Amino acid sequence: MAIFGPCFAAVFSVVSFLLVASAVPLDVSYDERGIKLNDQSRIIISGSIHYPRSTPEMWGDLIKKAKEGGLNAIETYVFWNAHEPLYRQYDFEGNKDLVRFIKTIQDAGLYAILRIGPYVCAEWNYGGFPVWLHNLPGVELRTNNTVYQNEMKTFVTLIVDMMQKHGLFAIQGGPIIVAQIENEYGNVEWAYGNNGKSYINWCAQLAESYGVQVPWIMCQQSDAPSPMINTCNGYYCDQFSPNNPKSPKWWTENWSGWFKDWGMKDPHRTAEDLAFAVARFFQYGGSLQNYYMYHGGTNFDRTAGGPYITTSYDYDAPLDEYGNLNQPKWGHLKRLHELIMSMEEILTHGVKRDVDYGNMMSGTVYVYKGKQSCFLGNANQNQDFTVNLMGSSYTVPAWSVSILPDCYTEVYNTAKINSQQTVMVKLPNEADDQTEPNELQWDWRPEHPESLHHGVAKGSVTTANELLDQKTVTNDTSDYLWYLTSLDLSKNDSLAGKAITLHVHTNGHIVHAFVNGKHVGSQWGTSDHLEFIMEKDIKLKHGKTNSISLLSVTVGLQNYGANFDTVNVGIHGPVKLIGNKGQSDEVTVDLSTNSWTYKVGLNGMEEKGLQLDNARHQHGWKSYNLPSNRLLVWYKTTFKAPLGSDPVVVDLQGLGKGTAWVNGHNIGRFWPSFVASEDGCTTTCDYRGAYNSNKCLTNCGDPSQRWYHIPRSFLQDDGNKLVLFEEFGGTPLHVRFQTITAGTICATTDEKKQLELSCQGGRVMSEIKFASFGEPTGVCGSYARGSCEAPNTLSVIQKQCLGQESCTLDVSENTFGPTGCHQNVYRLAVEATCDSP
Ligand code: GAL
Repeated sequence: MAIFGPCFAAVFSVVSFLLVASAVPLDVSYDERGIKLNDQSRIIISGSIHYPRSTPEMWGDLIKKAKEGGLNAIETYVFWNAHEPLYRQYDFEGNKDLVRFIKTIQDAGLYAILRIGPYVCAEWNYGGFPVWLHNLPGVELRTNNTVYQNEMKTFVTLIVDMMQKHGLFAIQGGPIIVAQIENEYGNVEWAYGNNGKSYINWCAQLAESYGVQVPWIMCQQSDAPSPMINTCNGYYCDQFSPNNPKSPKWWTENWSGWFKDWGMKDPHRTAEDLAFAVARFFQYGGSLQNYYMYHGGTNFDRTAGGPYITTSYDYDAPLDEYGNLNQPKWGHLKRLHELIMSMEEILTHGVKRDVDYGNMMSGTVYVYKGKQSCFLGNANQNQDFTVNLMGSSYTVPAWSVSILPDCYTEVYNTAKINSQQTVMVKLPNEADDQTEPNELQWDWRPEHPESLHHGVAKGSVTTANELLDQKTVTNDTSDYLWYLTSLDLSKNDSLAGKAITLHVHTNGHIVHAFVNGKHVGSQWGTSDHLEFIMEKDIKLKHGKTNSISLLSVTVGLQNYGANFDTVNVGIHGPVKLIGNKGQSDEVTVDLSTNSWTYKVGLNGMEEKGLQLDNARHQHGWKSYNLPSNRLLVWYKTTFKAPLGSDPVVVDLQGLGKGTAWVNGHNIGRFWPSFVASEDGCTTTCDYRGAYNSNKCLTNCGDPSQRWYHIPRSFLQDDGNKLVLFEEFGGTPLHVRFQTITAGTICATTDEKKQLELSCQGGRVMSEIKFASFGEPTGVCGSYARGSCEAPNTLSVIQKQCLGQESCTLDVSENTFGPTGCHQNVYRLAVEATCDSP
């Protein structure tokens, strides 16, 4: 079925044609079974990699690892506020170079799925919307509103034109085969009434109007107007069917793990459960599946949104935050992908027949051109089942799917992992003599609280007789906004002689209060409770003007929910002084309608640029009397880049909360003093049963994020500068730089499989700590021998692997010799240590 009209030719400029003349155009269409590329039905296995969450220097490697992991497509959102942070001031440089990212996908020979949005959610600041959009007069976001729609159209058109100009759509020979407009609008459409409905129709028309000859999707949009394809997002999408019977069954977000809030533990979604969900989706006729995320990466700068989302966006994805293989997840899925792709023709063309065995056990047979392929799925959480298929019996473990590409041989079971598990380690920075953290040399300088007493330091200043929404005032150019006022007690006689409490009601996210320049208290909310009241006992001076300075700090703006864009942030009031609180003569003086002066940002940051590589002000730093537990302070140090190519992190243990820069690059907010609660972690993790974000947690009682990624491209060999702005008070004395690499590798693999063992970063296997082929038991770190084994296993593996960065073993009696066991299937368990050669 061809789905596109002829209008494309009109917008396809001569310039773009010349640019892509050598690329091979691909005709994209679809039917209810799936996408067709040049009329060939295809399975698409895709993974999300968001270009601004890594660096251009990392993109090639991430995409290569995605391809090696068996993906044939990469998906990304487009981040409007990254590209147009200020009205009509565009940025497509560095890690915002969308064209370069898409071309890197193309160079790797993969397809691209472009989710333009431009609302994206994504745990990204303000869901991707620029705050200037919210500040436009008469605007209402994500609904039938001309001011908004004109802006949305301008941005989407800019992106579509840019992709066309560079020949990046499939019909031009580019990699983009699918595009998305809006994002999960169906979840909130009810809140916008009839306007929501007409808005979504308008979105569909806008998408179609570009004539770019790719299918457009709308995820979680059960009323998607044809020809928009409604797609599924979630942990399991096997039971999903699109609203239009002519649409294929597509899964845009298979959540490979979950994101993290400050104060949260580390969530883990097991490889077995993820593979189970994928296998079931293909069993039940799905044909496009995307991991959200395949590489989560890092929320650099102030891009984390939510609020209270951590700087790390690791997501427990198949590639970890730094781009390392997250094993065994990466390897277990790779084997599944290769198998599914080998069945592409039968899955996209075959006649499908389902068999219900009862007890949540199901079978599916695909038949095409005299061949057949089978799936056996067991969705029961506790019980393994043995069933008969074409005359043979098969045992399918609980919560797993077996795939038999010829309906006789089980080639894959989602609960049986035959890939290496890698235990990552952090190594000291050997390039630097300062391997001990307290040997780093620190300079510091204070950030003085603003106060009306001394006249507000220059910068962006506004006044109003009311408490203003923080993002409206800052236009989101900074996390920091000073709310400043003053009062003369003689004009408020009612307070005379009373104990005074300062009462501040805020919508979040952090408040530091100063009275006459003295800190009187700090408080913050959590992702569940953004709004809070801070009350502090204070002392005021009689007969003099008292200054009240409130520093309100945002930790990323709201990104999700109906009308999320209208949620106020900052001190919305009331701000009151309460005399003799709780007593019979209690009095209140409301300061909310006082004259308030607003100062955007910090003096050290906005005016002095202390964080910049070539800071305008070098003087004023002290190298003596290094303070700890001091509020509002700048620290800086220099360090050498760790040798080698392994990813670099800085351990910020000991610090409170703030922002960190390396050589002028903002590596994100830090908050190691926000510790996850002690309860709810498990040492073992049962993959069986539906995933939820309380399952398989680790990191209880530890900082929710202690290590912060410094991409290699931010570093030079020597003389690197780390600048920290510390907001709460802490000590930099425990700060140190480390690299992350494979420390221990483990695997248990069934016989007749190939096993690849691999260290990384030039490190090699220095010791085989355990090896047994037969009936070994236990888990990584505590494997035990069974009653029988092939006696040569250790020496064979030592011979093949010691001193190597990687080695591949043929797991069989041919390799290791006879086991003397009487099992049906033997297993190999091996544990090795990776070290510098
Ligand atoms: C989805 C959304 C994504 C992301 C995800 C959670 O609802 O579409 O952008 O926010 O949730 O990680």
